[in-house]
Amino acid sequence: MKRLKIKEVLKGELVGQQVLVKGWVRTKRGSKNVNFIALNDGSTINNLQVVADVEKFGEDFLKDINTSTSLGITGDLVASQGSGQLVELNATEIVIYGKADPEKYPIQPKKHSLEFLRENAHLRFRTATFSAVFRIRHAMAFAIHQYFNNRGFVYLHTPLITGSDAEGAGQMFRVSTLDPKNPPLLEDGKIDYSQDFFGKSTNLTVSGQLEGELGATALGEIYTFGPTFRAENSNTARHLAEFWMIEPEMAFYELQDNMDLAEDFLKSLIKYALDNCMEDLEFLSKRLQEEEKNKPMDERSMELIEKLRFVLENDFIRLPYTEAIDVLKNSNHYKKNKFQYPVDWGTDLQSEHERYLVEKHFKKPVILINYPKEIKAFYMKQNADGKTVAAMDVLFPGIGEIIGGSQREEDLDKLVTRMNEMGVPAHEMEWYLDTRRFGTVPHAGFGLGFERLLLFVTGMGNIRDVIAFPRTPKNAEF
Ligand code: 4AD
Ligand code: MG
Repeated sequence: MKRLKIKEVLKGELVGQQVLVKGWVRTKRGSKNVNFIALNDGSTINNLQVVADVEKFGEDFLKDINTSTSLGITGDLVASQGSGQLVELNATEIVIYGKADPEKYPIQPKKHSLEFLRENAHLRFRTATFSAVFRIRHAMAFAIHQYFNNRGFVYLHTPLITGSDAEGAGQMFRVSTLDPKNPPLLEDGKIDYSQDFFGKSTNLTVSGQLEGELGATALGEIYTFGPTFRAENSNTARHLAEFWMIEPEMAFYELQDNMDLAEDFLKSLIKYALDNCMEDLEFLSKRLQEEEKNKPMDERSMELIEKLRFVLENDFIRLPYTEAIDVLKNSNHYKKNKFQYPVDWGTDLQSEHERYLVEKHFKKPVILINYPKEIKAFYMKQNADGKTVAAMDVLFPGIGEIIGGSQREEDLDKLVTRMNEMGVPAHEMEWYLDTRRFGTVPHAGFGLGFERLLLFVTGMGNIRDVIAFPRTPKNAEF
């Protein structure tokens, strides 16, 4: 008999037929005459209730069926007698694939803390919460490819190993095959990377953007979607050392077009989740409300689905950095000295400032544009005022920065001057500068942090809980 996924079986269309399902036991409860087994195969958040007759299967056989035991079950699908499910399966044959010793299995059928599950990340997919999160993660990845494919963008695979520092922030992981104890040295005592694997010093990439620009200035519109690596020592709930980023790059786009695309893109992803992941979202919404029920009312987050709809239905605020500084300085929060970090034109906004703007002042997503050039990367288009660049950060409630992007400087001389001012080695990046030498065009792009998007869509509070095996300072387990 062909195995069916539980998601299919639960639709109820096959009542009266024999079906075969396979999966893992979530819970088993028993009475004298029957055992009820909740079976899950990962295809849906919902379990299939299996009814096993004690006399038929024998107590000895049934006692080996515990949480996480893997089973294949053939049975008759019937309309359920009990409440809570449409259908249930009266088992006629049960195959045990693998037992799971209930004394040793770490994930018991009770509530575990997210911290505990993080330490058991290899097994946490078997919980309802994490299966929901990872189905949504998959759905969002699919929606991203679909979005760009529908618009004629080319998916470009940019390298993970690179010799350049795209963001100029210097927070890179070195890639080397030299003997760390005894590396070849130059006369001045520095390491001789000409003897290294690539004949030069290389790192894991922090962004595919620079290579993306090469693609965009020929293919027109490209996007990358891959892992990026940052050796920043930020142990926060929003930072990973290895995260996934989506970076569209578009020829002939200016800042306005870039903002329009970013807003439309985010909204379409949220819409996809609402249209396709409702059962998982409803489960995660309940989880979040449960988790926050002891918080005071004004500290609780907006109900998850309501929050997603709210972002979908409202225009994002678009605001120059300079005006944002005024808003912050005129706020009561500022006047009462409630910000930890200073608010001064020219300094980078801290997450407390971003969240004040989004959550307290505007109560909507905000796109901040035209930042001081000193706090942004070398490649951003220099504005006519001589002080700011055509940067844009999209700020989301509960998250802060979800997207960072800009229009790019397309003028060769201005770009090289800025690189020299900022100490970016222009002579090592002739390949990048060639885009500005041969048929340069206005162009723009942005980077969406995939896990930050997932934090928003799933309502999870810690970025370690939306990537399968998180890499953070002092942690590369699994
Ligand atoms: O603002 P960032 O550094 O921008 C870039 O890398 C540009 N090259 C993008 C571009 O214009 N093509 O990073 C983009 C986004 C951030 O807004 C954030 O969502 C995410 O990447 N991000 C991180 N996510 C998790 N952990 C980290 N350590 C992150 N650093 C950035
Ligand atoms: Mg940024």
